[in-house]
Amino acid sequence: MTTSTNQSPATLEQLQALDDAYTIDTYARYPMDAVRGEGVRLWDAAGTEYLDFLAGISVSNVGHCHPAVVEAIREQAGTLLHVSNLVHTEPALRLAERLATNSLGEGSKVFLCNSGAEAVEAALKLSRRAKSAGDIVVVREGFHGRTYGALSATPQEAKQAPFAPLVPGFIVAEPTIEGITNAVTANTAAVLIEPIRGESGVWPVPDDVLVAAREACDAVGAALMFDEIQTGLGRTGPLWRFQATPVVPDVMTSAKALGGGLPIGAMIAGPRLANTLQRGDHGSTFAGSPIIAAGALATLDVLMDPALPARTEALGARLRDGISRLPGVTTVRGAGLMVGFDLEGGGAPELAMRALSEQRLLLNATGPQTIRLLPPLVVNEEQIDDAVGRLGALLG
Ligand SMILES: Cc1ncc(COP(=O)(O)O)c(C=O)c1O
Repeated sequence: MTTSTNQSPATLEQLQALDDAYTIDTYARYPMDAVRGEGVRLWDAAGTEYLDFLAGISVSNVGHCHPAVVEAIREQAGTLLHVSNLVHTEPALRLAERLATNSLGEGSKVFLCNSGAEAVEAALKLSRRAKSAGDIVVVREGFHGRTYGALSATPQEAKQAPFAPLVPGFIVAEPTIEGITNAVTANTAAVLIEPIRGESGVWPVPDDVLVAAREACDAVGAALMFDEIQTGLGRTGPLWRFQATPVVPDVMTSAKALGGGLPIGAMIAGPRLANTLQRGDHGSTFAGSPIIAAGALATLDVLMDPALPARTEALGARLRDGISRLPGVTTVRGAGLMVGFDLEGGGAPELAMRALSEQRLLLNATGPQTIRLLPPLVVNEEQIDDAVGRLGALLG
């Protein structure tokens, strides 16, 4: 089948045929296509409207096609798209300023990149640059991305086993006080943690475990690194998840929602480690490109609205409360609008599929019994109740 850009939109069946014929089959896609998005809603080529409670897996925190983000991208697109990191460009440097001054304290600095996995790679390299050949402690069932360093930091058998040998020097710990303290030794360069493990089913790491990790790192001069790629940018209420914990990490990664829908990553180093990486140590052709950075600046304008954290927390509580009343739901977890729930007897992938096909509600299953919801933060009470109602119609 051949297509050209001036045809009418392809049908789902045509897209599935293209997918089968021409893409390497790494994604289990839903039987759904999307041609347009606005706020919390998506439309397919046939004009069917969906309620999006996945937000591109926590990318579209500002909602689909936020007008201010679209306008910033349009304006930058007509001025300068790309130029390389051999010259200075204002959007990237303003973005670095904005992130550095709103994260890990005075003296923080930023390395921009293009994705979450790349932000993790930068953090891993920084920690080994600070403590040569040191071990990196990661948490069981954590997720940090698919590139080799990030994959090596992702102790999940199914994801790692086919790709051995991995990068050496990763130590896997249980996410408990004892687990972390026992794993950290004089040779530890870093402890890398998601404050809420997202991909493995929305599992918050308790505050006392984070405090133990902070103390263990301090005792041996290791870097405490938080992966805030999913938890950051207002997803759980505050701009960064660490702000709701008693702990400030030395290094933080961000990505996903930062670009408002465009690909971006950022590694932020606090004052102690901000000057660790040296010229020539790391780099990336597209990192901080003007168009992506302009989109990110407009996105941060929206996500740094002082009224947003309380709103997100209230809406998240409403969502969790509504879900907890549904039949067959055993536990509901999460913070703000990062929500997971378990189903008695499993069936989560089937429920996610039925939510899509019968209720036009987009969400995902992170495992056989867990459903995850990550709606855009611009969602309103009515849409929260609507989503709970749609789930209720399936579970009732
Ligand atoms: C916590 C966390 N770290 C890293 C990544 C990898 O990000 P990316 O897919 O942009 O490489 C993800 C993606 O889901 C994530 O949730």
